[in-house]
Amino acid sequence: MTVFRLENVVAGYGGTTVLRGVELSVPSGSVVALLGPNGAGKTTLLRVASGQLKPTSGAMTMNGEDVTRLSPHQLVAKGVCHVPEGRGVFPSLTVRDNLILQSAKGEEKEALDRAVAAFPRLGERLAQIAGTMSGGEQQMLALARTYVQHPTVVLLDEVSMGLAPKVVDEIFEFLTLLRRQGTSLLLVEQYVTRALEAADYVYLLNRGEIAFAGEPPELDGADVFASYVGGDFDY
Ligand SMILES: Nc1ncnc2c1ncn2[C@@H]1O[C@H](COP(=O)(O)OP(=O)(O)O)[C@@H](O)[C@H]1O
Ligand SMILES: [Mg+2]
Repeated sequence: MTVFRLENVVAGYGGTTVLRGVELSVPSGSVVALLGPNGAGKTTLLRVASGQLKPTSGAMTMNGEDVTRLSPHQLVAKGVCHVPEGRGVFPSLTVRDNLILQSAKGEEKEALDRAVAAFPRLGERLAQIAGTMSGGEQQMLALARTYVQHPTVVLLDEVSMGLAPKVVDEIFEFLTLLRRQGTSLLLVEQYVTRALEAADYVYLLNRGEIAFAGEPPELDGADVFASYVGGDFDY
């Protein structure tokens, strides 16, 4: 069953078209990796999916229901959470306040418990100003802020970028936990190998068009990448 779908989506900025007829499905409870070179339009696709950028044409559905015209806020209410490029935290607020802002009224304590269970390190730092933590800790906080909302679909934009390998391991373990709990993930990643290990399905985006859609084993080896996309990738 498809939980989230982009249908023939065209989108861009001003007069510039970036996405050219993108078809993408996120099956329920699965991890979908979206890969492609810099400038391919991955971030733009996630902006469309989170409602921040309205498509010029095409549609977006959730469980078959048209959600194309919903605001980012309404999409969040439907369970679509976006972890944007960079760190999705309020740097001048404490860890605690970052988490509480994201939780439903009356469920603040449950939210903090849930965040700390996922990332125990955050529990030791609830009173710390988020912007003074390491990049990895801030990224954990960004993920925890999503987690306390009990999301249905999480859109992740290069969450492992610039982090130490051990921290990246922790983040991928958390993504596995999310998925086991039934959350679907749309994962934009530059680390191709890790993304393919985690993914059930993979899409390659090149110059705003889907160049490949299939299962990771079909994409084994750099040759396949080169022939579909070209350009530089990190393995
Ligand atoms: N806010 C913006 N205004 C105008 N052009 C943009 C904006 N953001 C991205 N672009 C352009 O859209 C294209 C796709 O960018 P992006 O979606 O960020 O790609 P990716 O995430 O795959 O690297 C690029 O040519 C980029 O310059
Ligand atoms: Mg990007």
